[in-house]
Amino acid sequence: MASKSVTFDNIKKIFRDPQSGQDVAAVAGVSFRLEPGELVTLLGPSGCGKSTILRMLSGFEQPTSGKIMIGDNDVTNTPPNKRDTAMVFQSYGLFPHMNVAENVGYGLKLRKIPQNEIDTKVQKFLEMVGLGQMGKRPPSRLSGGQQQRVALARSLIVEPSVLLLDEPLSNLDALLREQMRVEIRRLQKSLGITAMYVTHDRVEAMSLSDRIIVMKLGHIIQIGTPSDIYRDPVDTFVAGFVGKVAFFPCEVKGLSPLRDGRNPSRLATKRWSWPDLSRFLSVNRERVLKTELLRRISISATA
Ligand SMILES: Nc1ncnc2c1ncn2[C@@H]1O[C@H](COP(=O)(O)OP(=O)(O)OP(=O)(O)O)[C@@H](O)[C@H]1O
Ligand SMILES: [Mg+2]
Repeated sequence: MASKSVTFDNIKKIFRDPQSGQDVAAVAGVSFRLEPGELVTLLGPSGCGKSTILRMLSGFEQPTSGKIMIGDNDVTNTPPNKRDTAMVFQSYGLFPHMNVAENVGYGLKLRKIPQNEIDTKVQKFLEMVGLGQMGKRPPSRLSGGQQQRVALARSLIVEPSVLLLDEPLSNLDALLREQMRVEIRRLQKSLGITAMYVTHDRVEAMSLSDRIIVMKLGHIIQIGTPSDIYRDPVDTFVAGFVGKVAFFPCEVKGLSPLRDGRNPSRLATKRWSWPDLSRFLSVNRERVLKTELLRRISISATA
């Protein structure tokens, strides 16, 4: 499976609200790049534009402006069936009148692959998701987790360049979610497939992503590794969204010199400008964010 990069170049999507007749920017001009073989998660509250980004990448939604590339190809105007992407949905979307094996082999059948080749490959992918014995069952006789494995196998078997997953685990119970996210990560890594994952569950995002894109109201607020985002959030929205934090409004009165003689204000301005820092010092439940700074500044609480 040849992994490909994905590039969004200043993508906007404007919808017209059918009731008010007003234009709403579901995606307000976003740019990012997924490296080949990378799993990147879109994380953000309901309505921030996550699914719209996935739908534009799969081709089911057309951007209002901007450019989408998969590898070296500009796919902005390419129809969904020519894009080489596959999508896994929250609702599984299995065909009820087909058994498990027929569901998994469906994409190969569309591509007119000979039936004996389909059978061999279906068995291989069913075994890959731990359902080697289940080929003959109707989907209705599987658990939610098993149905989602079938959906995953059905998407992977066509060897897409990019796998898209829109809240695939939301219908599962907590334990199964944990198992499935380990499973998804294992398959994605072993196949080396580029993947874009959507969730509003921060624990899920932190545990399976190479990088996370945090969104709010159609904008990207921060892009980084889970550890970057957790330890070094750019603002209070990200800090509050990815960690259990308490905010203490305060004013920075001054900085004491660092032991090694460096100017402490350089640390303070690395990420935040001086007045912003005064407004934002957050204390994480497990660890004090910005411990370096907190040890060296004298603050006075304003509330
Ligand atoms: N077809 C549409 N027509 C009008 N507005 C739309 C349409 N599709 C989405 N929107 C609006 O665009 C915004 C982004 O929607 P989107 O489905 O991308 O959000 P999301 O981040 O996936 O949310 P959730 O976590 O609830 O799934 C929302 O305000 C939504 O109401
Ligand atoms: Mg959504």
